[in-house]
Amino acid sequence: MPIDYSRIPSPCYVIEEERFRRNLALIKRVSEESGTEIILAFKGFAMWGVFPILKEYINGASASSPDEARLCFEEIGVPAHTYSPVYKAADFESILKYSSHVTFNSLAQFHKYSTILSHFLRKVSAGLRINPEYSEIGHDIYNPCSPGSRLGTTVDDLLKKGIPDGIEGLHFHVLFESDSYALEKVLEVVELKFSRFFHRLKWINMGGGHLMTRKGYDTEHLVKILKRFRERTGLHIILEPGSAYAWETGELVSTVEDIVENKGIRTAILDVSFTAHMPDCLEMPYKPKIISATDPVHGKPTYRLGGNSCLSGDFMGEWSFENELKPGDRIIFLDMIHYTMVKTTTFNGVRHPSIGIWTLDNKFRLIKEFGYGDYKNRLS
Ligand SMILES: Cc1ncc(COP(=O)(O)O)c(C=O)c1O
Repeated sequence: MPIDYSRIPSPCYVIEEERFRRNLALIKRVSEESGTEIILAFKGFAMWGVFPILKEYINGASASSPDEARLCFEEIGVPAHTYSPVYKAADFESILKYSSHVTFNSLAQFHKYSTILSHFLRKVSAGLRINPEYSEIGHDIYNPCSPGSRLGTTVDDLLKKGIPDGIEGLHFHVLFESDSYALEKVLEVVELKFSRFFHRLKWINMGGGHLMTRKGYDTEHLVKILKRFRERTGLHIILEPGSAYAWETGELVSTVEDIVENKGIRTAILDVSFTAHMPDCLEMPYKPKIISATDPVHGKPTYRLGGNSCLSGDFMGEWSFENELKPGDRIIFLDMIHYTMVKTTTFNGVRHPSIGIWTLDNKFRLIKEFGYGDYKNRLS
């Protein structure tokens, strides 16, 4: 049964357990069939209230900071695979404490920490992020291979300096909402440039951007290329998608609070904000889908939707609806679970939407409500 949105408070992010489990089952199947370790990138989705469900299917996460690594350790129950463009000396003990794998962005960062890493009381496997200088990502803000990128070590650098003893793995991340055919092309480049180093290594982390839960994704092809790569190289493969876990698993429920008009443009102002609660809409940018709304259709009631912050640009549009909008109407934004909660702000003091789950037995369970304290505690 679909979610009964009238039973959800507004505003609220609501994840549907059934859709979430479907994604998790698919990811688990790909992991088992390909013999690959697939973990969750917290940067895309870290709603730890649903980790008890997640843990029925997967057993690991990748972290980009000491806090994400700790969340993995405490809420998934295993140390994290951690990568960060830089590590601060003051944080490094805690990075080690909460991580099984630590990937360095540069050889200088590895050398800075290699002694403390080798003396740590538990074995932590060190890796190096490489920059294959090949990516199919169209949006520059998400392209780690654009000229001048600060992310990863190039093959020229490695040829000059060599891979130091102590590095056991390589890590690359060059995909974004991509299919397996894009990964196949990336693998060709990675092998061409870096396979000369593979005999020194144990593992390779192929980053995120593998949108295997999107309709039409060829998972059989993914399994095939991963298996072949493993057989050819003998390396343990790790994938760390984020979006794929939460892809199309839930919505952001909001309400029209007012309708204003200026120069013939009508805007429905909502109890949520694009900049604070759906930042990727403005950052990428992309136009989210809304239940029972379409792109503008001549003759139909058509509106911009405006956020409740006072940023002039906190609006998107336009959408057409079957009927005129009025205060109190619900606006349901689709696919608002990944890269939302992890990126939200309390800009303007706007209240953070609640977080909840629509369970398998068709009930709504509120997981978290936000209040004044959440706003105030961030600021002093
Ligand atoms: C290093 C790394 N790993 C994994 C991911 C997750 O990517 P996605 O959520 O697109 O699967 C990202 C996203 O930016 C990343 O930078």
